[in-house]
Amino acid sequence: MKILIASHNNHKIKEIKAIFMGTNVKLVSLDEFDDHDDVEETEHTFIKNAVIKAKYYAKKYRMPAISDDSGLCVDALNGRPGVHSKRYSNGNDNQNNLKLLKELEGISNRKAHFVSVVVIYFPDCTYKAYEGIAHGEIGHHLKTYENAFGYDPLFYPDGYDQNYAEIGAQIKNQISHRARALQKLKEDLDEVINHE
Ligand code: IMP
Repeated sequence: MKILIASHNNHKIKEIKAIFMGTNVKLVSLDEFDDHDDVEETEHTFIKNAVIKAKYYAKKYRMPAISDDSGLCVDALNGRPGVHSKRYSNGNDNQNNLKLLKELEGISNRKAHFVSVVVIYFPDCTYKAYEGIAHGEIGHHLKTYENAFGYDPLFYPDGYDQNYAEIGAQIKNQISHRARALQKLKEDLDEVINHE
């Protein structure tokens, strides 16, 4: 089964590919189509934005497409940055992290969770959505890591002393919000994956 990954985010693409490794699903990235379309995420929920992205590419290339819409929800900030995680500071990932630390200055409740909604959209206009959540805490200091993804350097998943940037891809891809959502999708596709 061939599925298109409806994302230009290399971190997400790498994680999605790793999670499907060893299955019969052949994941195709937009790079392989030399596609640089920018799909605007106009909605205010993860699921609606995930549908926008997967639907756009499933229709364009007439093949199943999967998207991930995700974000970090911080308890003390009433769930912000949430769906606006990518553009929280209107700057880059580092500026987002600095803004988060600033907003949490002096606040002892550091509880937060990542949400991922993965949508698979089929060319016949049907789709299914899967949610994954990972709970944890926001750190107090920002360290620098080479090529870190988004809020990874600040997010300490429950049960670990290391943040998402430190635990390594292998563990992150077992416990992350995205891994949990994709695991559900994989289970649903299991019949197709194993009996093609
Ligand atoms: P999206 O492309 O609109 O789904 O934006 C997702 C944003 O949420 C990213 O740009 C990151 O800021 C944040 N995010 C989502 N998943 C992760 C993750 O696994 N690690 C770090 N940040 C993430």
